[in-house]
Amino acid sequence: MAIEFSQRIRRIPVYPAAGGYANPDELTLLASNESPFPPLPEVRAAIDAAIGSLNRYPDPHATRLRAKLAERYEVPAARIAIGNGSCDVLLAAGEALLEPGAELVYAWPSFSIYPHLAAASGARAVTVPLDSEHRHDLPAMLREITVATRLAIVCNPNNPTGTALPLADIAGFVAEVPPHVCVIVDEAYCEFNLLEDPDASIDLLRSHPNLVLLRTFSKVHGLCGLRVGFGLCGSEALPRALDQVRQPFFANALAQAAAVEALGHQDAVIDRVTRTVAERISVDERLRALGLQPAESQANFCWFELGEERDEQQVLNGLAERGVLVRAGSALGSARPALRVTYGLPEENVRFLDALAEALEPAPAS
Ligand SMILES: Cc1ncc(COP(=O)(O)O)c(C=O)c1O
Repeated sequence: MAIEFSQRIRRIPVYPAAGGYANPDELTLLASNESPFPPLPEVRAAIDAAIGSLNRYPDPHATRLRAKLAERYEVPAARIAIGNGSCDVLLAAGEALLEPGAELVYAWPSFSIYPHLAAASGARAVTVPLDSEHRHDLPAMLREITVATRLAIVCNPNNPTGTALPLADIAGFVAEVPPHVCVIVDEAYCEFNLLEDPDASIDLLRSHPNLVLLRTFSKVHGLCGLRVGFGLCGSEALPRALDQVRQPFFANALAQAAAVEALGHQDAVIDRVTRTVAERISVDERLRALGLQPAESQANFCWFELGEERDEQQVLNGLAERGVLVRAGSALGSARPALRVTYGLPEENVRFLDALAEALEPAPAS
């Protein structure tokens, strides 16, 4: 007799995480939207200094980190939810808000963890296709909101397409959503968005107690290996509810120390964004020269369709044979052959583009 798992486990899709390679140093890793830049020396020093206290549990309230974030974003500390990565905040929000009979609205393709929230809780997932420019269709999402909706998620810039919406559109959406619905605007990549000031959305928290802006130290701060993310919330109710559904120690001691230090280095954030955007411009130009049409990225990755006639797996294998790992669009919800590729260091991007040019040959008959 085999073990009988719960209905919940049978419903939950397996998260398509990349990783677990035996030889990561020999590969060009462009599959997980990581930062190519290592932690800053000051952040490493803060981690070193925290190691001596690892015999103690971490601060269960992340007091220093919350205080630093409160100062940086001008949001009261009690309205900040910290998590073991922003995924943890998302999953806990799903647990706190959703149940059978409830509905969750999000765009698709979007971040691949969102389907877990519905599957884990038994709520109904209502997905709204992106528009023809790979952007959220906010009017269509609004039409899907009912009395049963508990949560709506807007990913801006969107993973996997990298596209961004103007803040005015998001503000209009939040204003129309009824107050019983929690809106999470997932801003994991907002620092890379040159169309808006990344802090401009914070003003919306003043007038919308149902709003959460979800941020992370994983991307622009380059600390995804430590797992720390946070939600800036419009009210104290959500952080309180998250604390009820999670284990008490949701952010480890090294992550808290590193995040506090990282917040003091805004100059490094600007430098990293500048370097990433320079790569974004040159990679997208070379993709267009290969006859591809990347979506307009405001993130640290690009998204492009390969054309119906191409075999996505074959291109992926061609890249992997040349030591370059990227993500298959089909694993991220695309109905058409596509790839999502993180912008790396200049030499990594050259390696990717050279490998792609070879993997796309011979050109398919048109
Ligand atoms: C849109 C989006 N939100 C949240 C996350 C989660 O990041 P983390 O849990 O590392 O903070 C990711 C990670 O790739 C993401 O793409």
